[in-house]
Amino acid sequence: KGLAELTGTIKMPPRWALGYHQCRFSYATDKRVREIADTFRIKKIPCDVIWMDIDYMEGFRIFTFNKKNFSDPLKLNTYLHKKGFHDVYMIDPGVKVDKDYSVYQSGTSQNVWVKKANGEEYHGKVWPGDCAFPDFTSPTARKWWAGLYKDFLAKGVDGVWNDMNEPAINDSELPEAERTGTMPYDNRHKGGGGLPAGPHLLYHNAFGRLMVEASQAGIMEANPDKRPFLLTRANLLGGQRYAATWTGDNEASWKHLKLSIPMSITLGLSGQPFNGPDIGGFLGNTDGDLWANWLGFGIFFPFTRGHACAGTNNKEPWAYGPAVEKSSRIAIERRYRLLPYIYTLFRDASLSGLPVMRPVFFADPQDLSLRQEEEAFMLGKDVLVIPAFAEHPSLPSGIWETLSLVDGDKADKYQATLKIRGGSIVPLGRIVQNTNDNSFDPLSLIVCLDKDGKASGNLYLDAGDGWSFQKGDYSLLTFEAERKGQTVRLELTGKEGQRTVDKEIKKINVTLLLNGKAYTASGTLGRNIDINL
Ligand code: GLC
Repeated sequence: KGLAELTGTIKMPPRWALGYHQCRFSYATDKRVREIADTFRIKKIPCDVIWMDIDYMEGFRIFTFNKKNFSDPLKLNTYLHKKGFHDVYMIDPGVKVDKDYSVYQSGTSQNVWVKKANGEEYHGKVWPGDCAFPDFTSPTARKWWAGLYKDFLAKGVDGVWNDMNEPAINDSELPEAERTGTMPYDNRHKGGGGLPAGPHLLYHNAFGRLMVEASQAGIMEANPDKRPFLLTRANLLGGQRYAATWTGDNEASWKHLKLSIPMSITLGLSGQPFNGPDIGGFLGNTDGDLWANWLGFGIFFPFTRGHACAGTNNKEPWAYGPAVEKSSRIAIERRYRLLPYIYTLFRDASLSGLPVMRPVFFADPQDLSLRQEEEAFMLGKDVLVIPAFAEHPSLPSGIWETLSLVDGDKADKYQATLKIRGGSIVPLGRIVQNTNDNSFDPLSLIVCLDKDGKASGNLYLDAGDGWSFQKGDYSLLTFEAERKGQTVRLELTGKEGQRTVDKEIKKINVTLLLNGKAYTASGTLGRNIDINL
C-alpha cells in the first residue's frame, strides 16, 4: 500500500481483459483468426480476446495492416465483436527506416528519433530490419506517438500490445564481446518537461515505461469513453498506471512452469498487480501434459493468456486431443465462475495497490513457515490456489474448505485445488462464453464460517467498461453470514454506490461449506437467506 501511495495504482481494467486470452506468433491471416475464434465458440470453451502478433502488419511496419492477409481489419474486428470477442494488436517501438512510409516520414519531420553520440539518427535492427526509435523521454515525441493511435484504433482495435521496448535490438552482427541486445549506452536522449537530457545508459530502464505512458495517452485520446487495455514487456516502478505487464519469452518447460508463479507474485508485490506469463510456454513445443498442468493453475493468474512462438506446435486448448481439451475447458470455466470475485479484487487493486495474486504468507504473516512458499499462492485474501504439481506446499493453518467451481473439477488431475478461507464469502458467476454475457444470473455465494461461526465478503459490480463508475454508477455489496444453532443466516448488510443491480442479480444460490460438506439454499437480493444444517 505504501508503494502504491508513492508510485500509483492501475486504472480499473475493462471486464473483458479479465477473461481468457488466446495468442500466437502469429495467427498470420484473417482467415486463421476467424477459425480460431469460431473454434472457441463451437467447442464452447470460454474466451474473450484474440491477439494479433507482428504478422498482421505490412512488412512489420507498425500502424499498418498487411494488404493481403489482413486486407480489411475493420471487417475482421467487427466479425470478432459480433462473436463476443475483443482484439489486441501488437505495436513495437522500432519504426522501419523507409522514406516512403508515413510513420517514418512524420517522425522524421518532427525530429522525434533517438540520436547517436555523434548526433546522427540512430538505427537498430528489429523485425523490419533497420529501425529508428522514438525518443520517449521527449514530450514532443510522446505526443507525436500518442497521435498515431487514433486512425489505427478506428479499425475496431480494442487493445494494444507494446513489445520489444526494453528496447530489444538485434546486434548479432557485432563481435560477441560488444553485444548488449539493446542500444549503445552513449546514444542521446533529449528529455524535456522535467527530464534532463542524458545518455541511453540513464534512460534504458525507463524507455518502456515512457513508451506505455505515451501509448496509453494516445489510446485514451482516441477512445475517451473506454477503459484502455495495454500490455507491455518492459515496465518500471509506477508503470502499472499505464500498462499490464507479462513476463516475456519463457520456455515450454517444467522449470519455467514453476518459475512463473514466483515471477508473477513478485511483480504483484512490486506494484504491478495485472500480470502473468505466457501460459503453456512460448519457446519450444508444448505437450498436452505440460499445457494442461500450466493452465490448471495459470488460469488463476491476474492476466491469463496462452501464447506460442513461431515454429512451435499449435497451443490452443483443443490442440492436444480430447482429454486435454476437456481439462482445458474445465480450467477456463473455473476462471469465468470466479470472475465476480476477481473483478472485485481488481477494483481493490485499483484503489489500494494490493496485489491480486499474493504469496501465501499474506494469509498469516506470523507464520514464518509460509515465507518460502512459491508453488501455492493466494488469489485475494480468501482463495488459496494449490497447483496440481505442488507436492508439499506450506499452507496457512486455520479453517480452509475445498471449493469446487465446475462439475468434474475435483476429479481432474490437472486442476489446481482451490480452498476458501474460514470467515469469507466468495461471489461466483455462472459459466459464460465471454464477459459480454450476464454472469450474475444467478449469483452464487460460497460461505465458509470462521471459528466463531461468522463470515463476510464483498461483490463489486459496474458497467464493465467506461468511466460511469467514477460518478457513482457502481455497486459494492457486503454480505455477512452468521450461525445461530442449526441455521446460518446470510444477509446483505451493505450497499455502496448508485447502481441498481436487481435486474442483473435475480437469483442467489448460497452454498455453505462446513467440515467438508456442502449445504445449499437460494433466495433473492436484499432478502435474508437461511441455510439449515
Ligand atoms: C517477442 C515477444 C513475443 C512475440 C514476438 C513476436 O519475442 O516477447 O511475445 O510473440 O516478439 O512479436
